[in-house]
Amino acid sequence: MSRVTPDQLREMKTRGERIAMLTAYDYPTAQILDAAGLHILLVGDSMGMVVLGHPTTLPVTLDDIIRHTQAVVRGTEHALIVGDLPFGSFQVSQAVKLEGGRRVAGSVRALTEAGIPVMGHVGLTPQSVNVTGGFKVQGKTERAARLLLDDVAALEEAGAFAVVLELVPAELARLVTERTSIPTIGIGAGPYCDGEVQVVHDIMGLFPDFTPRHTRRFAELGTAMREAAQAYVAEVRERTFPGAAQSAKMSAEVIAALRAEDAPATVPDAPSQEETSADGQADGYAPPKPTRK
Ligand code: KIV
Repeated sequence: MSRVTPDQLREMKTRGERIAMLTAYDYPTAQILDAAGLHILLVGDSMGMVVLGHPTTLPVTLDDIIRHTQAVVRGTEHALIVGDLPFGSFQVSQAVKLEGGRRVAGSVRALTEAGIPVMGHVGLTPQSVNVTGGFKVQGKTERAARLLLDDVAALEEAGAFAVVLELVPAELARLVTERTSIPTIGIGAGPYCDGEVQVVHDIMGLFPDFTPRHTRRFAELGTAMREAAQAYVAEVRERTFPGAAQSAKMSAEVIAALRAEDAPATVPDAPSQEETSADGQADGYAPPKPTRK
C-alpha cells in the first residue's frame, strides 16, 4: 500500500470521509499506529511536553523534530508523516506543519512553491502560548472568529494542503470547514471538522501530568506499564526472573572443567589479556543482537 498524499486527503474531504491523525514520536509507536490505519502521523512539538518533560513546546529544536521524524518514517509505510516546524525555525526537509495564519502565509507560499507540502495550524497555537495567555479556547468573539476565518483563507490561498484547528468553538470550526476547500483537522474543535488529531500520549493514558478536556483516554497504558514494571521488580528481587526460558545452556563437560579450577578454593587468577579491555577493566556482558526487522 502506498503512502497517503495531500491530494488523497482533499479527495477524502470531497467524499465526506473522515481523516484520522495522531501524533507519533518513535519507531515502535509509529509501527503500531500505521498498522492501525492512521491517515496522518504528526511528529508534533508536543513531544516537548509529553516525551521530554518541558512545561511548554518552546524548547523543542529542529534537530529534535528531524531525529524523531526519521524514526517515525522508518516505522511506517502508509501514513503521511508531517513534521512540526518548531518555534523559531525555518529550515525544512519534507511535509511540515507551521503554526500561524496570515502572519506565516508568506512562508507557507515559499515552502509550497519549493515543493514542500505545508499543513497550517490556527486557533490555539502552543508556540504562542506566552502571547495568547495560556491554553484557552480561541475565536469566541465575532472579531476573533473573523480573524480566524481570514487566517484559514490566507493559508488556503498560500497553498497549504490542510489546516489544524485547535481549541476553537465547534460551530466556528463547522463554518471554517464549510468555507475552505482544504481539509480541516480538529483538536478541541468539535465534531464537524474533516478529520481529528490527538496527542497519542493523551488517548493512551501515557501522560500523567494532566488530561486536556478535549481528549479521552482510549486505554490506560500508563497504569499497565506501571503494573508491569512493578511485577518485573518483584520477580527480579524474588529471583523468579530470568528463569530457564530466558537462559542459555552450555555443555556439562565445559562447565565441569571450569568449576574444577575452583576446587580447592584458591585466590582467583587475574583476567587473561583477551578478556581485558584497553582501560584494564574486565569486559561486561554484551547482549545478543536483536533478530527483529
Ligand atoms: O504538536 C502537536 O502535537 C500539535 C497537535 C496538538 C496538533 O500541534
